[in-house]
Amino acid sequence: MIKKIGVGLLGLGTVGEEVFKLIKGNHLFSNEKLEIEFEIYAIYVKDINKKRNVDVSGIHITSNYEEVVNNPDIHVCIECMGGAGADKTVEIIDAAIRKGKHIIMSSKKCLAYNMNHIIDMANYYNVQLRFEATVGGAIPICRTLMSMSSENKINRMYGVINATTNYVLSLMEKYNIDFDEALNIAKEKGITENDSSEDIDGWDAAYKMKILAGIGMKADINLDEISPVSVSSLVNLKNDNIRIKQIFYVEKSSDNKIMFYVGPAELEKNNVMYNVRENYNIVFVDSSYSGIRAYYGKGAGGKETASAMYEDLLDIYKQCYWFELTDVTTCEKIDINEISNRFEDGE
Ligand SMILES: NC(=O)c1ccc[n+]([C@@H]2O[C@H](COP(=O)([O-])OP(=O)(O)OC[C@H]3O[C@@H](n4cnc5c(N)ncnc54)[C@H](OP(=O)(O)O)[C@@H]3O)[C@@H](O)[C@H]2O)c1
Repeated sequence: MIKKIGVGLLGLGTVGEEVFKLIKGNHLFSNEKLEIEFEIYAIYVKDINKKRNVDVSGIHITSNYEEVVNNPDIHVCIECMGGAGADKTVEIIDAAIRKGKHIIMSSKKCLAYNMNHIIDMANYYNVQLRFEATVGGAIPICRTLMSMSSENKINRMYGVINATTNYVLSLMEKYNIDFDEALNIAKEKGITENDSSEDIDGWDAAYKMKILAGIGMKADINLDEISPVSVSSLVNLKNDNIRIKQIFYVEKSSDNKIMFYVGPAELEKNNVMYNVRENYNIVFVDSSYSGIRAYYGKGAGGKETASAMYEDLLDIYKQCYWFELTDVTTCEKIDINEISNRFEDGE
């Protein structure tokens, strides 16, 4: 017996459209494996007359979010809003939780500023809350931290978690240009948004660090105390052995003291982060039993972020994991002289 799960999308932009495609395209997969079927019933957007790149015929499109959160057929609300601001976004999340909807979030600023409130609300109303897309794009770091045993205590986390800034710094070094020139190229290529100040000044990384420290270390860092260091005044560094990256670092001492940093750091060639280029991210997690483990992947992009959100959706309904070998028609060995060509820059 197939169970139908109603989905409401909050936002249908770069990420929302890719989430839409994944849900539509994986209809059969969900059906077969989970015996459930996801169906999008309503979508909240700012401008209902905007032309969409996906076929939304038959789906209720509204600029009134209450028409999504009050819909009794909707079980999960997937928030992929941008530009609405943290206050408006939390108002909508709050309303959806009160109506008993499970929540999948992407807005890191909204989550960072309202983490306690949103978690308390989700617990009180007994709804599932997932937010993989808020940190690290495609990297499944939040789920990893949530599933770690409390015995395996996290002592430190650090890494590169802002794709925009990393991309700009990579351009500076690659083309030997200054910061403003690199930022303009990144904007022209559509890699960064018109207003990238929160990325460059370190606030975006600070929001993400707060989320990681919250779930990984149970630490409630006050955002006002982070005061990240901006990379905007960096001049081009002409030193082949050192690269400057915007990093985050958070450490929890045995007496429960939290120490942190967000801003530029000079990294030597033998540091793994030295080779984290362009829009890639990496998060290191150093814990008492596992030692250091690293999580690496693309930190931005519509498809990459949507993949994390769709996995959140499956995760809410997945009771167990399944394994299955598929048919491979031919197998061929790769020649030793060819193997290094299989990797692109950053991989
Ligand atoms: N893009 C990435 O690579 C990436 C990576 C990680 C996380 N994220 C997060 O994912 C979220 C969505 O990003 P995106 O790139 O998809 O943004 P986007 O392309 O700007 O889309 C934003 C969507 O939100 C809707 N919206 C609803 N209310 C709004 C309001 N009051 N003001 C402005 N827009 C409103 C917009 O409606 P209209 O379509 O009618 O304008 C649009 O559909 C953001 O929280 C972002 O931080 C993005």
